[in-house]
Amino acid sequence: MRAVGFRTNGGLEVLEELDRPEPVPGPGQVSIRVAFAGVNFAEIQHRRGEFGPPDGLGGVDVPGLEVSGTIAALGTGASGLEAGEPVAAFLPGFGGYAEVATADVRFVRSLRTEAGEADMAQAAGIPCVFPTAFGVLKDAGRLRMGDDVLIHSAAGGVGSAAARLARELGAGRVYGTVGSAEKIPYAAQLGYDNVFPREAFAERLAEVTHGRGVDLVLDPIGGPVREQSLRVLAPFGRVVAYGDLGRHDQWSASVWDLWKSNQTIAGFNLGDVARRAPERVGEYLGKALRFLASGRVQAGVTQILPLAEATKAHELLETGAGQGKLVLSLT
Ligand SMILES: NC(=O)c1ccc[n+]([C@@H]2O[C@H](COP(=O)([O-])OP(=O)(O)OC[C@H]3O[C@@H](n4cnc5c(N)ncnc54)[C@H](OP(=O)(O)O)[C@@H]3O)[C@@H](O)[C@H]2O)c1
Repeated sequence: MRAVGFRTNGGLEVLEELDRPEPVPGPGQVSIRVAFAGVNFAEIQHRRGEFGPPDGLGGVDVPGLEVSGTIAALGTGASGLEAGEPVAAFLPGFGGYAEVATADVRFVRSLRTEAGEADMAQAAGIPCVFPTAFGVLKDAGRLRMGDDVLIHSAAGGVGSAAARLARELGAGRVYGTVGSAEKIPYAAQLGYDNVFPREAFAERLAEVTHGRGVDLVLDPIGGPVREQSLRVLAPFGRVVAYGDLGRHDQWSASVWDLWKSNQTIAGFNLGDVARRAPERVGEYLGKALRFLASGRVQAGVTQILPLAEATKAHELLETGAGQGKLVLSLT
């Protein structure tokens, strides 16, 4: 089968087109004939070596955390799905940039939902992104009706999804930040009340909220952005740290300030949730696919590239030029 992967960690140049044996589903797994694979920033970190050197079959790793496609085969003990059924799957162990991928059945959900059938291309942008958006908003972020929310990297994959979901879950005002002013028009049509260039966000937010700040900040960047986010946090507010885009050094927050104002810095990691509470990933994936099928939320796929252009997709994300959700086509 065709796949894209890497034998050594490094820059864009290490990605190569490969001819790989088709994987066979093990117990509790299914194999999926992949139609589309979502592209995530974590796959850039995987390629760069931030999760360790390649340790896949023959010393080759195939990135890809989320796919849509049809069930090719079921392993022993895998039930509730049938061959040919259209599905979307989260792949915590990667492997999505390939014509066939195996997935733990607990992280696979049918595109045929009570609300209708979800679109195959859009569904590829759901399985990693939306369980993350649910997790940062509801679990780590403890979102309540009417809470005002600030979303950093507002035009990105998780950021766009979180903006749409925040509204669906009853948020009050939703603000965003972007790394460059060119992204503001795209982000604005995602339904934000205001989108700010990141360098001035704390001042601008203080202005528009008359100094109150927000109840919840979603931060995948870290460093000074995380520090400033605490300064725009209202009493009882939460900052959710869920990424390290800026590759900043660690820093310390004042516990004194946090406990005096009932504030929280919380962490969220979907891979860890998949290990410790796998049923939650399946629940959120199923819910997001129903929302997609009913039109209540959009997956926000902005660009579909052929598998052979995986390098271009990585470049767009890595340089911060991407907007919305990028998806690779395997058909
Ligand atoms: N914890 C979890 O479970 C979990 C799960 C999924 C994703 N994530 C994290 O969520 C974040 C977003 O992931 P995604 O896949 O949706 O990517 P994305 O947001 O679609 O793309 C990355 C975006 O990050 C922003 N960015 C900020 N600083 C950057 C830097 N130094 N270098 C490159 N880009 C930078 C850029 O937009 P702006 O410049 O406009 O901000 C860029 O467009 C990543 O940190 C990822 O690791 C975490």
